[in-house]
Amino acid sequence: MRVTLPDWKGTRLLILGDMMLDRFVQGAVRRISPEAPIPVVEVTSEKRVPGGAANVANNVRALGGEALLVGVVGDDRYGESFLDLLEQSGLDGSGILTVPGRTTTVKSRIIAQHQQVVRVDRENREPVAREVWDRLEAAVREALPHCGALVVSDYAKGVLTPAFLAVVGKMVREAKVAYVVDPKPIHFPYPGATVVTPNRQEAAGFYGRPFATVELVHVAADLFDRTDWDAVLFTLGDEGMALARRDEGIELLPTKAREVYDVTGAGDTVVAALALGLASGRPLMEAALLANAAAGVVVGKAGTATCSVAELREALGQGGS
Ligand SMILES: Nc1ncnc2c1ncn2[C@@H]1O[C@H](COP(=O)(O)OP(=O)(O)O)[C@@H](O)[C@H]1O
Ligand SMILES: [Mg+2]
Repeated sequence: MRVTLPDWKGTRLLILGDMMLDRFVQGAVRRISPEAPIPVVEVTSEKRVPGGAANVANNVRALGGEALLVGVVGDDRYGESFLDLLEQSGLDGSGILTVPGRTTTVKSRIIAQHQQVVRVDRENREPVAREVWDRLEAAVREALPHCGALVVSDYAKGVLTPAFLAVVGKMVREAKVAYVVDPKPIHFPYPGATVVTPNRQEAAGFYGRPFATVELVHVAADLFDRTDWDAVLFTLGDEGMALARRDEGIELLPTKAREVYDVTGAGDTVVAALALGLASGRPLMEAALLANAAAGVVVGKAGTATCSVAELREALGQGGS
């Protein structure tokens, strides 16, 4: 099936979810610590990038669309840094609340000689207080009619709760916009979702046990029995993806990756391209093919990467047109 690339200029998505700060601390190892049998990393540089739901927004922008972020950070130095970085990169963080007393989610990688030595996480997974989600709900309600699709980017760090997700499902139905969910098993069943994009592990969490690719038909049937979703887009790592549409069977989409360098963040690229496709009125299968092509591009790059319009055009075999 040949898919033409939509023009996503002016297409606006609402991204609701858990914000994170990704930190990469680089250094050199010259000796072993006298205190414990561990290397001593002498820091030479530090890089910070907005991650989590903000990485979905970054992917939307790389593909030519616009994204409004809704979520929270803490009133600490990392939250401040996160908001500064958003502003510097021109991403719209006007829907992000700074919550007093909350810890900003930070994932710090300590890297020496191109190898991760350790990852250090700071986070507070507690659900945000009622008055915070009242304000998040108001932000979503106000923005939704002006957006082509809603993406929920759920890392289970406290922004999404079952009660909030129930309200989100209702708002989405009223606004009649496409609703894409990058899920976590504990928040099943995401009422009102157009399409949910579990990876193998998340899908196993929904299903109750791990499964083989040949069993996907049963997994999909079980999920459709227990939800009101239109579709499930299973992301299957090196096997690509499988699109299951309610009452329409399931189709495998083999990966388009030519070479695999780093799969970090591929799932964020998938939801970004999928939601942009749906926002521009493409049917689910076409949106999934766009997402698969975009994912194939980013896994060929180092680190948490994004796919540009030109790269997606080339991946779709429309280079130069
Ligand atoms: N090792 C890989 N080889 C080829 N393609 C991959 C690989 N890992 C991921 N992809 C592509 O990226 C998509 C999302 O990756 P996956 O690891 O399944 O999801 P997530 O990042 O959400 O865990 C896959 O559906 C596939 O298209
Ligand atoms: Mg995913």
